[in-house]
Amino acid sequence: MAKINSTVEFEALRKEILSSRDPNRPCIAVCTGSGCLALGAANLVAALKSEIKEQRLEQRIEVRETGCPGFCERGP
Ligand code: FES
Repeated sequence: MAKINSTVEFEALRKEILSSRDPNRPCIAVCTGSGCLALGAANLVAALKSEIKEQRLEQRIEVRETGCPGFCERGP
């Protein structure tokens, strides 16, 4: 990953990421930062993926692990 040196580059990266997403495929984002991992985030991700697979919704719902957004006291 390249270093971002300006707000213009940041905006270009943001647009690139958004354009790669399917707006018709909902995404469940789960923080897997160290605080949330300590509070069971890995188990939550596994449970979500397992249930989505069991319901045969893998093509319709995405589960994405994210970095810490700063709500650690409320995570995961
Ligand atoms: S580690 Fe998950 S919100 Fe900070």
